[in-house]
Amino acid sequence: MGLIYQNYSLDHLNTFHLSARASYFALIRQPAEMEQLAREDLFREQPKLILGGGSNLLLTGNFNGLVIRSGIQGLECVDETDESVWIRVGSGMEWDELVAWAVAHDWGGLENLSAIPGDVGAAPVQNIGAYGAEAKDMIERVEGFDFNSKTWKTFEAGECEFDYRNSIFKKKFKNEFLVSQVTFRLSKAPHSLLTHYGNLEEELQKTGTRSLAEMRRIITDIRRLKLPDIHTTGNAGSFFKNPVVSLVQADQLRDAYPNMPAYPAGDRQVKLSAAWLIDQSGLKGYTMGRAATHTQQPLVLINTGGATGEEIWKLAEYIREFVFDRYGVMLEPEVNVY
Ligand code: EPU
Repeated sequence: MGLIYQNYSLDHLNTFHLSARASYFALIRQPAEMEQLAREDLFREQPKLILGGGSNLLLTGNFNGLVIRSGIQGLECVDETDESVWIRVGSGMEWDELVAWAVAHDWGGLENLSAIPGDVGAAPVQNIGAYGAEAKDMIERVEGFDFNSKTWKTFEAGECEFDYRNSIFKKKFKNEFLVSQVTFRLSKAPHSLLTHYGNLEEELQKTGTRSLAEMRRIITDIRRLKLPDIHTTGNAGSFFKNPVVSLVQADQLRDAYPNMPAYPAGDRQVKLSAAWLIDQSGLKGYTMGRAATHTQQPLVLINTGGATGEEIWKLAEYIREFVFDRYGVMLEPEVNVY
């Protein structure tokens, strides 16, 4: 079948810049190609991995199975009111291209999610979030192909089980649902900008304007300063999730470390800062072989050049153990590890 490549290099498909291969690889450009692939014997026989831009992925070796990537394009306005516009976007479009397009049309909602690497299809899976916004706040529905029933399905936002960096597509449907299109609800002017995170309000006031374009510029600049550029330094953004612990545990930690950042996370739960825990463990800018933590943001693990996935994972495990021994908090990876 012309769709499937064998022994395919994934070197350009993971932002950690790791060298790895997939036994089989298929790029789906049209929905019909997905149906065709699902009829193949190897689709039934092989373990599967659905990949977007590879910006949230750690490959610790070759993938012995079938990697499927969506290259489905398309961008259409499907509905409109005086206040909102609904746009349906192909999952293979680059995320930041979509954000730039929305901002250029003065349609609001996505601007705080500027400059996040990856494809549109990953946004609902991971419920991407940054600077006070989460993709779930704008997502109206998610369409895609269910590998089990081999049918196309639509999930309304309420059915997606969105949570902090999580969704039904990362749990029950993990590697079993290829997102084909995502529909977003965006706002028309006048916009209410989200400026409560960090010093965003202060930065915006300095500019003297309150436009989506200014927000996008500010966010892009902050990210450029704080996070390593995936084009020059292999990384996958935050490696761990910010841990959520019980109120009791958080109170005990706050007694011992009064300066520890902590945010309410509902139902007697508290979200801690993984970056702070790693930083206070003395592991900021820490190097182990060819893997390291970033000097500006220790939550980001980097490939300093030529590292293997195993080397990155070894550092990750070292950090987890160190933080657990000191704070009794187990960090969980945010990236998908294979
Ligand atoms: N901090 C330190 N030392 C540092 C850096 C940060 O102690 O060197 C502490 C500070 O207390 C700071 C706090 O960590 O106030 C939070 O830092 P930051 O604003 O950088 O955010 P984060 O919680 O570390 C999360 C997301 C990022 C997202 C930023 C901004 C997760 C796992 N990460 O990081 O998302 O860009 O907020 O909203 O939730 C990603 O998911 O890949 C990602 C980069």
